[in-house]
Amino acid sequence: MTAHKVAVLNGPNLGRLGDRETEHYGDITYADLEAYCQEHGGMLDMEVVCRQTDGEGDLVALIHESAGAYDGIILNAAAYTHTSVAVRDALICVKVPVVEVHLSNPDAREDFRRKNLIKDVVDGSVQGFGPAGYGMALIGLKALLA
Ligand code: DQA
Repeated sequence: MTAHKVAVLNGPNLGRLGDRETEHYGDITYADLEAYCQEHGGMLDMEVVCRQTDGEGDLVALIHESAGAYDGIILNAAAYTHTSVAVRDALICVKVPVVEVHLSNPDAREDFRRKNLIKDVVDGSVQGFGPAGYGMALIGLKALLA
């Protein structure tokens, strides 16, 4: 069977991992996170392509593009999780499975992070496990694609 192709999309400020709020996100750099996803994808026989953008419109475009080109999507929409109707609407159009991931546990942080505009339009969510959550999201996505 051909390996599933998966897009891992990361939203605003995640490119600053490593020196950004290490008490919440640890000291893994964005480059390390991409390498982690590649390695875990490989172990699961999945082809992983990672993208990161700070722009809301760019993230919407990446969701549309990925939906046409990949078998599934892992998405950390970062701050747009809590604010973006545009990201929510883009996800509603997507016909491939989407797994939401967050490094931290937004529900255990400030009140505004408990508002999540995408949780009911994704297929599954993982939060609070740091980078390991991306590995869990890949396992979940593989199960959804089986
Ligand atoms: C985050 C949580 C969001 O609340 C925050 O805005 C982020 C990162 C996470 O991965 O824990 O930028 O999505």
